[in-house]
Amino acid sequence: MSQPLAHALDTDLAAPPEEDWWKRGVIYHVYPRSFADSDGDGVGDLLGIVERLDYLNDGTPGSLGVSAIWLSPVYLSPGRDAGYDVADHLVVDPVFGGQAAFDALVTEAHKRGIKVIMDLVLNHTSDVHPWFLSARSSRTNEFRDWYIWRPPAPGGGPPNNWRSFFGGPAWTLDDETGDYYLHTFLREQPDLNWQNRAVQEAALDIVRYWLERGVDGFRLDVFNAYFKHPELRDNPRRLGRTAWTRQRHVNNKDRPELHEFLQELRSLVDGYPGAVVIGETFDGKPELAASYGEKLHLVFNFEFLQQEWDAADIQRAIQRWDSLHAHERVWPSYVLSNHDNPRHATRYGKEVTQADGDARAKVAAALLLTVRGTPFVYYGEEIGMRDAEIPASELRDLAFAHGFTRDPARSPMQWSRERNGGFTTGAPWIRLASDFRERNVAEQDTDSRSLLNFYRSLIWLRRDSEALQVGTWLPLTPKPRGAIAYLRLTSGEAVLVALNFTPSRQRIRFDAELPTRRWTVSMSTRRADVGWPSIVHATLDLGPYEATILQAKLGAS
Ligand code: GLC
Repeated sequence: MSQPLAHALDTDLAAPPEEDWWKRGVIYHVYPRSFADSDGDGVGDLLGIVERLDYLNDGTPGSLGVSAIWLSPVYLSPGRDAGYDVADHLVVDPVFGGQAAFDALVTEAHKRGIKVIMDLVLNHTSDVHPWFLSARSSRTNEFRDWYIWRPPAPGGGPPNNWRSFFGGPAWTLDDETGDYYLHTFLREQPDLNWQNRAVQEAALDIVRYWLERGVDGFRLDVFNAYFKHPELRDNPRRLGRTAWTRQRHVNNKDRPELHEFLQELRSLVDGYPGAVVIGETFDGKPELAASYGEKLHLVFNFEFLQQEWDAADIQRAIQRWDSLHAHERVWPSYVLSNHDNPRHATRYGKEVTQADGDARAKVAAALLLTVRGTPFVYYGEEIGMRDAEIPASELRDLAFAHGFTRDPARSPMQWSRERNGGFTTGAPWIRLASDFRERNVAEQDTDSRSLLNFYRSLIWLRRDSEALQVGTWLPLTPKPRGAIAYLRLTSGEAVLVALNFTPSRQRIRFDAELPTRRWTVSMSTRRADVGWPSIVHATLDLGPYEATILQAKLGAS
């Protein structure tokens, strides 16, 4: 047996315990504003999600079969940054149905075995949060030190050189008290002062409150920016294209103090078996994200949100991420789309025909759901939703000073060909993508070859396969050109995944030894049969954009 194969089989991990459901399951990211509107006000809400829970998982392969939903923020908010500006962390915004609707969602989701993960925004609050209103009322207010205030620099102007991620300086002068306050994002999102223990305790109280209310975990918004250098030193400069990238952000994020707090947070959360903490590592390379992997349960790797459609690059990125998670205390996750970036069907569909774009979406799905790590599916990606084209006059997300808007990736879910795609009976808060009459859940539900049914099959295949959930990952194509193949292995099962990223035929040569010759096709966009001779000769001929998954039992035979 070859060394990599022997090693892969040897590192067969013990089956993760029940509370580690998040290693095995698929997490579905709901953008509540755009998922389903139950009351006709044009904004999606929590009861709308309840009505669609069976679509997400009714316990049968006719549903998606996801294990959890992560909700973008539903707290009380003036909505300057679409809910990422929280005015009260303990109150659900009435626009989403309020507290009663939230409790109903948790109850109904749990009935179906679906966990509920909340977004937790703790780097900053809204400027209308009572803490900030108090803090800004006077220099001596008891909440003053919950935020970061500094007098103008000698000679005037902001206290240091820090920039807002959305553009402009990170400081706004408060006329009332004559001090500047810090905001890493909008001026309406003042940063909390995490060096103040009272802030840390308030954060832990919020976490405890929601865990007691039955939620199953949190996605921590920009957690690695919580702590700033106590002396607020200038950031060193470097070459870059924007004011933000022209600085090395060593003093306003990734501070050593953070680790101690994460430890404390983790101990609290570990008191609730099965609860999970997922970190949105803000602005950093995969190595930085992975460095938080032991403290949290999962961290995002945003490399795949920018990744070009190139087999070799994608394999390289997986290899890097997988090897950063080579020991048992950490677990990888994968994400191709989210609410801050263009959807991957749009990115990968550029400059190719619609049919090729759809074929690529299947290859991407097969990849996302078969690599080693927890997959995050962004609402609508399962039907191949593209970014909506929204006229400038209708844009709602104006956070970025340089004009970039995230609205196109936040358009309403396309449920049917009906008016407003079945999303709302009222006027949608933002327009739908124009293809909703052809691309929607109802159409794809009845088409056995649709992307939706492909996602369903993949997720249910994964649910049945120990190797796909927790097996090691072993690439079979050291120098991929157009196509990649890899194994997922446990001691009892092997899965072979072969993906052609191109519209032309590709022959894959397996440079690593295969653990068996007795494969069956579990899923394929093209073939029903594996063709023994090809496997015996260590090659597999793939058709255009073919995605094929083979399975084999190992050991006792
Ligand atoms: C995160 C969110 C983004 C938000 C920002 C500030 O990056 O994903 O939507 O604008 O934090 O809270």
